[in-house]
Amino acid sequence: MEVFALALFIITFAITIFGFSRWADRDTKLPPGSFGLPVIGETIQFLFGKPEKFVGDRMKKYSPNIFKTKILGEKTAVICGPNGHKFLFSNEQKYFAAFRPHPIQYIFRSYQTKAAATPPPELPRDETKVLRQPGFLKPEALIRFLGKMDTVTQQQLQAHWEGKDVVKAFPLAKTVTLALACHFFMGMDNPERIARLVQHFDDITVGMHSIMLNIPGTIFHRANKAAAAIRTELMSVIKEKKDAMASGAKMQDILSHMIVITDPSGKFMPEAEIADKVMGLLVAGYSTVATTITFLMKYVGLNPDVYEMIRAEQMEIAASKKAGEFLEWEDMKKMRYSWNVICETMRLVPPLQGTFREVLTEFTYAGYTVPKGWKVYWTVSTTNMNPEYFRDPQKFDPSRYENGEAQAPYTYVPFGGGPRTCPGKEYARLAILSFVHNVVKYYKWEVMDPLEKVNGDMMPTPEKGLPIRLHRL
Ligand code: HEM
Repeated sequence: MEVFALALFIITFAITIFGFSRWADRDTKLPPGSFGLPVIGETIQFLFGKPEKFVGDRMKKYSPNIFKTKILGEKTAVICGPNGHKFLFSNEQKYFAAFRPHPIQYIFRSYQTKAAATPPPELPRDETKVLRQPGFLKPEALIRFLGKMDTVTQQQLQAHWEGKDVVKAFPLAKTVTLALACHFFMGMDNPERIARLVQHFDDITVGMHSIMLNIPGTIFHRANKAAAAIRTELMSVIKEKKDAMASGAKMQDILSHMIVITDPSGKFMPEAEIADKVMGLLVAGYSTVATTITFLMKYVGLNPDVYEMIRAEQMEIAASKKAGEFLEWEDMKKMRYSWNVICETMRLVPPLQGTFREVLTEFTYAGYTVPKGWKVYWTVSTTNMNPEYFRDPQKFDPSRYENGEAQAPYTYVPFGGGPRTCPGKEYARLAILSFVHNVVKYYKWEVMDPLEKVNGDMMPTPEKGLPIRLHRL
């Protein structure tokens, strides 16, 4: 009898516990997945595995729509696929606010008190207002800058490639990009200053997604040192600008705008804050454009038929211009095939993998609940290489953008979407097209090592800098 009573008790207890856990599960129903190891979670796999593998493996194992993980110190839900992109881009401010991972907050917020000791809890969300509101990146403003883009690109090609047989594409892509950005954001034209900055920008870009270990020898430490060096340089640029403006010089760049604007109480922006904001913009516009130009050189170099088609398009534009005339808006609109080639390059080597958000209010997606305070990550790698959306996805094939195949909504989002779409999209388009125009006008090239290793996923870098053999035309 006692045995029977005990068995009954155990069964009842087990059923109660099972029922309770099912009930608790139903109530919270967090996304499937794993938070990995204590403290570091799955940060190592995220940073050092291939991004599409990190995401792809977990989509297969847990759910193609959403999974949980812990990366860069945060409980994170990764929202996947076109529906995930759509959900995220359509619910900004309702469920999501922008969030920068802690290493980024730390590197870019030095002017805040105590920032050296602790990263600030929240990033002010106004960098992009500076860009979006005064309309610096609107087509009207960019049209005025087109001639300068064209000139700077020509000068850089002339200075670094003229008369040479074998050159490296990656370093040139970086200096062209930085020269353009320095001119555009700061009205700065000094090539030595720009050359000094290149390595610092590389270090920051890599350090933005790294483990926050601020001791000599680490990626994060290098990034902070680089940020300090750039800040010093920018502070001296700001002083020069102020002096020039005080003596009546007219300035039209973003940095000068930041110097003169005031907040509602009439206070000017502190110099250190201006420096950090400009640094943020330079970083956002630097590695993305430089990476795209570099890999475009690689894929076009490896595909002579694509080269011939781009050259035909660009030479028709060149032929329509008088000697000494620069590229204009109408010319850019004609570069349709070249743009398809750029798109295909960005699909195969995404200049930016994805970004984070903070969850403002608990929400449910694909049957799972994501609590307030968690972070959400979206990434192009959940769609870019998926054969469901891109036939033969490993193949470099710009013609895929001609037959509508790549137009399925939310499958191809290199610049994000919705209200937070990259504000530099049009600037990037013009800068890269201007480079393409000039490079095919003057050169043909061969990639010397088609199998050259590519390091790093956050800033894909050809190990040897992409050596190419040039043929001057
Ligand atoms: C090929 C070039 C580029 C690509 C592929 C790219 C891609 C992206 C992506 C995917 C985002 C994140 C959108 C999101 O969070 O949903 C972003 C944000 C941003 N991009 Fe770009 N970008 C490029 C060039 C540029 C340039 C040239 C600039 C500056 C002139 C720039 C400035 C920014 C800024 C400031 C943000 C943050 C926007 C925000 O948080 O609201 N980007 N970009």
